[in-house]
Amino acid sequence: MNASLLFWIPASLRMAMVLLASGLLWLFFGMEVALGSAVMVLTVLVVMQLHYLKSLADWLNHPEKTRLPDGWGAWSEVFSRLYKFHRVDEKNRAELVEWLARFRQAMRLLPDGVVIMDDVLHLEWCNPAAAAHLGLDEQRDKGMRVTNLVRNPDFIDYIVLGRYDVPLTLKVKARKLIVQIIPFEARRQIMVTHDVTDADRIDMMRRDFVANASHELRTPLTVINGFLEIAQGQPNLDPTTRAGHLKLMIEQGQRMQNLVEDMLTLTRLESIETPLRPEQIAIPALLEQILDEARALSNHRHTINLHIDGPNIRGGKEELRSAFSNLVLNAVRYTPDKGDIQLVWSLKDAGPEFSVIDNGIGISEEHIVRLTERFYRVDKGRSRETKGTGLGLAIVKHVLIRHHATLVVDSVPQRGSTFTVRFPMNAVVQD
Ligand SMILES: Nc1ncnc2c1ncn2[C@@H]1O[C@H](COP(=O)(O)OP(=O)(O)OP(=O)(O)O)[C@@H](O)[C@H]1O
Ligand SMILES: [Mg+2]
Repeated sequence: MNASLLFWIPASLRMAMVLLASGLLWLFFGMEVALGSAVMVLTVLVVMQLHYLKSLADWLNHPEKTRLPDGWGAWSEVFSRLYKFHRVDEKNRAELVEWLARFRQAMRLLPDGVVIMDDVLHLEWCNPAAAAHLGLDEQRDKGMRVTNLVRNPDFIDYIVLGRYDVPLTLKVKARKLIVQIIPFEARRQIMVTHDVTDADRIDMMRRDFVANASHELRTPLTVINGFLEIAQGQPNLDPTTRAGHLKLMIEQGQRMQNLVEDMLTLTRLESIETPLRPEQIAIPALLEQILDEARALSNHRHTINLHIDGPNIRGGKEELRSAFSNLVLNAVRYTPDKGDIQLVWSLKDAGPEFSVIDNGIGISEEHIVRLTERFYRVDKGRSRETKGTGLGLAIVKHVLIRHHATLVVDSVPQRGSTFTVRFPMNAVVQD
């Protein structure tokens, strides 16, 4: 049945009932009674309609404060429909508010900066990442022109040229940003900023590493090729010279092999696919072996002593052997003859420690911070003389990171150096 019929049938029935009741009253009590009753009933009906109309007006003014009455007759249907509309509307509004809050939260957590501007670049809104990247303050700078806030010539040129399809690389306060403006809606633009400083640094480190590695490999290769050319061009070289050349070639070959092995070790240590397999390490046995190695390299040129006064620990045995051995062999290499070298294993309040103390050439302040960089050598000539690759301390650093340990370097030029490895207390093996 259609809505119009649903309205008119009961309404007509109600009117018919009034007329019928008046007719009956007329029949039994006369015309005056019938007309008087009809007027009374109609007055009540009109007052009731007015009352409902007033309730509706009140509710429309303050829908959240007042309640709609249940209503009578056609009003009950009208009120219940209005109620339903209102509830759906409230639900939609709550959903919208929640969605907006979620969207704002997501924008706040976004690592990329987002700035919303009008068509003439007045700031309307920005997220914290954009504020940090460009030095903006959403509250303070709202309504200001972005070109007045980001006073960078490249940025201004980018805006003037208006070639927004190509992103702009911007240097802001020692950070490198990729900035792009995207027009949206008729009169709004979004600016997105992406910080590429770290990615750029990693990229540069990778390039440096390849350049350094190639350079390091080229020197021994040049030497070997030189001798091979001599051997080819002068087949009748006297045996002593030939033996000398062969010896140098073998040395350079060995150097290349060490270099490649060290690079592979570094790659393995950095890779998450090579997890650390900790085992119980008998520190005295390990350090005795390293002491023997150091004495062999020193060949009685130094006094080397070992003091053990600390507990055994858990860790990657071969990794720690290589790290400790590098520190000890460095002390031997960079300490002149008759020098003194102490190896000390002890337990401090914070945890166990391994110190290598020498009274050798020492290292000046500006070099200390860079020692663990790959291929970094204080004195390239001397390090090459001692067959160093400059990767030793980089390997030490990576091994220690895997053990949550740290390296502390204390050194005074011409007086000597102390390299200390500090382990956390939880590395100690409880007996
Ligand atoms: N005990 C020390 N005294 C003085 N200088 C040191 C000492 N240990 C390291 N150095 C300096 O730190 C640099 C880096 O050391 P690292 O162990 O990384 O490389 P290396 O010894 O030259 O080569 P590698 O260990 O790879 O064979 C050395 O070249 C040296 O200049
Ligand atoms: Mg070394």
